[in-house]
Amino acid sequence: MPSTTTTAAAHNLLTDHPELYETRFPDPERLAGRWTEDCLRRHGAGPRVLDMGCGTGRDAAHLHDAGRKVTAADLSEAMLTYARTHHAGPDYVRADLHRFDLGRDDFDAVICLDSSLLYCHTNDQLDSFLSSCRRALVPGGLLVAEMRNGAYFLGRTDLLDAPTVNRFTWQGTAYRSTTTLTVDRTAQLLRRTRVWTADGGPEAVEQRSAWRLLFPQELRHVLATHGFEVLELHDGPGPRTEPAWSEGRLPGETTDADRLHLVARIATRC
Ligand SMILES: C[S@@+](CC[C@H](N)C(=O)[O-])C[C@H]1O[C@@H](n2cnc3c(N)ncnc32)[C@H](O)[C@@H]1O
Repeated sequence: MPSTTTTAAAHNLLTDHPELYETRFPDPERLAGRWTEDCLRRHGAGPRVLDMGCGTGRDAAHLHDAGRKVTAADLSEAMLTYARTHHAGPDYVRADLHRFDLGRDDFDAVICLDSSLLYCHTNDQLDSFLSSCRRALVPGGLLVAEMRNGAYFLGRTDLLDAPTVNRFTWQGTAYRSTTTLTVDRTAQLLRRTRVWTADGGPEAVEQRSAWRLLFPQELRHVLATHGFEVLELHDGPGPRTEPAWSEGRLPGETTDADRLHLVARIATRC
């Protein structure tokens, strides 16, 4: 049995071990990539796509295989190395979504999946991200994002009441993660503490991360401020909703459930 010693880890176990990430969050049917391609097609996006916070690269590679010219960026070197090997095709680069300059008018769409946008914790980071998107996008270009919905936590505590325990086996080792979510109302952040144990492992590892709690009306306002017109903002169906999106299913009109799906078009250039 592992001991119960807990250490604060400087790194993120999942983003430092991309294989583990794909095992823990499998997407064998490439639902996220297919949903994104569907959004891009329905809104007539051109072929050049920038995937910010691309992770293991599986969505970027799906879009590449669908015929798009994809640049995919992440802050984690481990993710980028894995992506280049396992999901070849896109051009993988290291960039910080808080502030990036990957060219001007070089992209027809920026995508930001699985809550990557919510790593913009502060208003300054969000402003800077949207300014960077604006520079990168051709006039009329799209921003497609999929993330947690901050509004879900208004009046609901089901995700906060008790830790969730997940068990899975990876490369012959049984792992257990215990995840606790708390709301930091002052910072408007959802904070996560996750404790990992591995059978035979020397000690438990505690890791902390956080996501901005963005509310739909707040998002509409900040997008408008940066010259984006919201084309779709809804809680499903999407790649991580229950029931999940499938081809032909159209976006809903509510923003009540726990995932938020955004398609916005850059309307003007100041
Ligand atoms: C939850 S994962 C999502 C990965 C991928 N978009 C997906 O849907 O599978 C978040 C990713 O964002 C990356 N990330 C976190 N902060 C970042 C930042 N400031 N700039 C760029 N990438 C960042 C992490 O390294 C990680 O790969």
